[in-house]
Amino acid sequence: MRRPLQEALVGLVFYFKACSAVPYSDYILAPSSRTIIPTSVRSVNGTITNIQSLTTANGSATFQGVSSVTFDFQRNIAGIVSLDIGSSSSDDAFLGVTFTESSLWICSQASDATADSGLDEPLWFHVGNGSSIYTAEPKHQRGAFRYMTLTGNTSATVEVKGVGIYFTAAPSQDLQAYSGYFHSNDELLNRVWYSGAYTNQLCSIDPNYGDAIPFFNEAIETNPDGFDKWWSNYTVTNGTSATVDGAKRDRLVWPGDMVISIPSIFVSTNDLYSVINSLESLLRLQMPNGMLPYAGAPFTTSGIEFISFTYHLHNLIAMAYYYQYSGDLSWLSSHWDQFKLGIEWSLSSVDSTGLMNVTSSSDWLRSGMGGHNIEANAILYYTLNLGLDLASILNDSSITTTWSNYSTNIKSAAYDLLWDDSTGLYRDNETTSLYPQDGNSWAIKANLTIDDQQASAITAALQSRWGTYGAPAPEAGETVSPFISGFEVESHFLSGNATSALDLVRLEWGFMLNDPRMTNSTFIEGYSTNGSLHYAPYENDPRVSHAHGWSTGPTSLLSFYVAGLHLTSAQGKTWKIAPQIGDLTSVDAGFSSALGAFQSSISAGAEGELTAFSFSVPNGTSGDVSLPGVGGTLVSGAQRVVLSNGEAKGLAGGAWVLELSK
Ligand SMILES: *[C@@H]1O[C@H](CO)[C@@H](O)[C@H](O)[C@H]1NC(C)=O
Ligand SMILES: *[C@@H]1O[C@H](CO)[C@@H](O)[C@H](O)[C@H]1NC(C)=O
Ligand SMILES: *[C@@H]1O[C@H](CO)[C@@H](O)[C@H](O)[C@H]1NC(C)=O
Ligand SMILES: *[C@@H]1O[C@H](CO)[C@@H](O)[C@H](O)[C@H]1NC(C)=O
Ligand SMILES: *[C@@H]1O[C@H](CO)[C@@H](O)[C@H](O)[C@H]1NC(C)=O
Ligand SMILES: *[C@@H]1O[C@H](CO)[C@@H](O)[C@H](O)[C@H]1NC(C)=O
Ligand SMILES: *[C@@H]1O[C@H](CO)[C@@H](O)[C@H](O)[C@H]1NC(C)=O
Ligand SMILES: *[C@@H]1O[C@H](CO)[C@@H](O)[C@H](O)[C@H]1NC(C)=O
Ligand SMILES: *[C@@H]1O[C@H](CO)[C@@H](O)[C@H](O)[C@H]1NC(C)=O
Ligand SMILES: *[C@@H]1O[C@H](CO)[C@@H](O)[C@H](O)[C@H]1NC(C)=O
Ligand SMILES: *[C@@H]1O[C@H](CO)[C@@H](O)[C@H](O)[C@H]1NC(C)=O
Ligand SMILES: *[C@@H]1O[C@H](CO)[C@@H](O)[C@H](O)[C@H]1NC(C)=O
Repeated sequence: MRRPLQEALVGLVFYFKACSAVPYSDYILAPSSRTIIPTSVRSVNGTITNIQSLTTANGSATFQGVSSVTFDFQRNIAGIVSLDIGSSSSDDAFLGVTFTESSLWICSQASDATADSGLDEPLWFHVGNGSSIYTAEPKHQRGAFRYMTLTGNTSATVEVKGVGIYFTAAPSQDLQAYSGYFHSNDELLNRVWYSGAYTNQLCSIDPNYGDAIPFFNEAIETNPDGFDKWWSNYTVTNGTSATVDGAKRDRLVWPGDMVISIPSIFVSTNDLYSVINSLESLLRLQMPNGMLPYAGAPFTTSGIEFISFTYHLHNLIAMAYYYQYSGDLSWLSSHWDQFKLGIEWSLSSVDSTGLMNVTSSSDWLRSGMGGHNIEANAILYYTLNLGLDLASILNDSSITTTWSNYSTNIKSAAYDLLWDDSTGLYRDNETTSLYPQDGNSWAIKANLTIDDQQASAITAALQSRWGTYGAPAPEAGETVSPFISGFEVESHFLSGNATSALDLVRLEWGFMLNDPRMTNSTFIEGYSTNGSLHYAPYENDPRVSHAHGWSTGPTSLLSFYVAGLHLTSAQGKTWKIAPQIGDLTSVDAGFSSALGAFQSSISAGAEGELTAFSFSVPNGTSGDVSLPGVGGTLVSGAQRVVLSNGEAKGLAGGAWVLELSK
């Protein structure tokens, strides 16, 4: 008796049964088992008999001669391929496997790309060597693919009894055991939330199989067919799981990407273990002068010096976020000197204008980063204020006056030097008429704006620029950046326009989900304003990653802003419940911190009027509720609190239901 393929795969079997504890688990895209067989056959070229049997547990398909089959897994997956071979008519028979995330690059000769030119070579299995299960080496795990093509290159007849993938992503997670959920009456938004969560699962990897950029570890080698050799075997962090930027590539730790992915990880899987491994790998690379890295090893340890004024600050923001979600005060204390040294490094570039003068162009691959740049200064303003909050938690008043003064000066100097009242936007710097998406979105996120009118002017101006496929980022050419658009979505919520925020999610993330060139399950790192899958910073379109954590902003924003579950201190010891449901009529969402579950449920009528509202937060916590324009009484057991101008303050944790005024 042969062992079934599923049992033999990598010698390991994990059958994680769907965890039904979390509501709406049918929306979860992560597989219920780590062993996956093809879902469907997309196309066959040549002669293969009984190919459909490979989508069942009892496979037996016969390849005759130079033939190929493309499987469609219907969503992006990741892992190590095994082929269960029955027999072969020739000792010289080979079967090759190619992968691609996008349908654009389906090809029996090569995979989509990990390098900035060319395509990746197939994985070849010498199946003529006998009846056996052939498994790829771990360094040849493919970090993301929706389509897989199996191809013969000889005249041999080969029986294939099974094709299997051992799913390698999110190695420390029980894949469907989410700690958060989101549901609304808008199915597209529901799919966006779960696709963002799943994208971050694919971007959580075994850190021993990181770095798929050949340039940084070895010179790119090209095989005789002209395709690039590829592998992922560089250890990027300690531990057994790490949060990286992209699933296919770079498979590296990037602090900028983490500023979007950490909150979205928190509200969905709460996999802070992967986050801390990555964050600590970055903090270890801090220079004696305080500068923190643009990216983790081996990018930063390759000997090429990259200085990034913005990504430096993203390291510090990631520290604050990790503390916010973990509540690990001893971790924060032990790294506080690093935080302060990092701020000092940034402040050393603030000149007499009060603004930081950026002297290195490295950022999220936008162009023109330099001088008194608005994005960099808004991020500095944001980080200084996060730092002031952390300093007060740690009772460190030594920096309060200094940081507060710098912060005040940045705000007024940015307004004086960079604000343009006629367009309602900040300029990129004083010598340009380019009005960036990044700096203007960050200005609102950071509260760099002077008042609400200024913030509303910015969001209206940004919205007026939206095109057919999303919000443009003119600072990066003809680009739609789902990374920067995540900050723009937040800016619409912050300026009180939830409908605009949701409209941008529907437009841009809806395109990313529904376009047939995409994976219908994960989010691409960038594309063109004309809808082509060309990301201006790269020459090579097959290289674009279709599972990038930095494109998952809406997942946390839907939980925090739409469901209104705001944590106002670490782990939600204090909170503010302030739903902004825009044009939705029902929202039911929640997540958990170590203190317990945070949940809210909201219904509204066609005119947006609230018809039902309840929420539940952990016992022992306290907070406020804000429901502008609503009159009624919040009830929890024997406690009754009448809303005053839609507000209630100082509520105790527990389950609360609103009784609306008649
Ligand atoms: C089908 O296979 C033949 C022979 O290998 C090849 O020339 C042709 O390009 C293939 N067609 C497609 C659509 O892949
Ligand atoms: C596979 O084939 C065996 C033998 O024909 C049969 O007993 C078994 O039920 C089949 N399993 C499935 C899942 O079809
Ligand atoms: C062929 O099979 C033999 C015996 O199973 C094994 O020792 C050998 O490594 C295999 N060679 C290749 C190229 O797979
Ligand atoms: C098939 O591909 C393998 C692996 O690249 C190669 O060694 C072999 O020579 C190829 N066979 C033919 C007939 O091209
Ligand atoms: C990674 O794989 C490449 C290509 O096979 C190999 O040359 C290199 O030694 C491997 N590195 C490590 C750290 O295993
Ligand atoms: C792992 O931890 C050790 C000890 O702290 C450190 O020297 C090493 O650089 C770390 N490795 C990575 C990849 O961060
Ligand atoms: C100012 O911004 C423009 C537009 O981004 C850019 O071309 C220029 O290089 C920037 N100036 C400096 C000093 O970086
Ligand atoms: C920023 O600093 C550089 C290097 O010192 C200098 O050349 C440049 O003029 C400064 N830019 C501004 C806007 O002051
Ligand atoms: C925004 O900054 C102003 C000072 O310019 C401050 O009064 C206000 O409280 C800040 N808002 C928030 C939400 O922090
Ligand atoms: C939201 O933004 C849109 C477009 O700028 C505008 O038409 C609408 O009035 C705004 N709604 C609110 C509540 O500000
Ligand atoms: C996309 O995925 C959703 C599930 O998330 C599914 O309902 C839908 O049919 C898929 N769309 C296509 C075109 O495959
Ligand atoms: C919270 O406290 C209430 C009232 O004492 C109690 O009924 C409820 O079970 C507690 N909830 C949890 C999760 O402990």
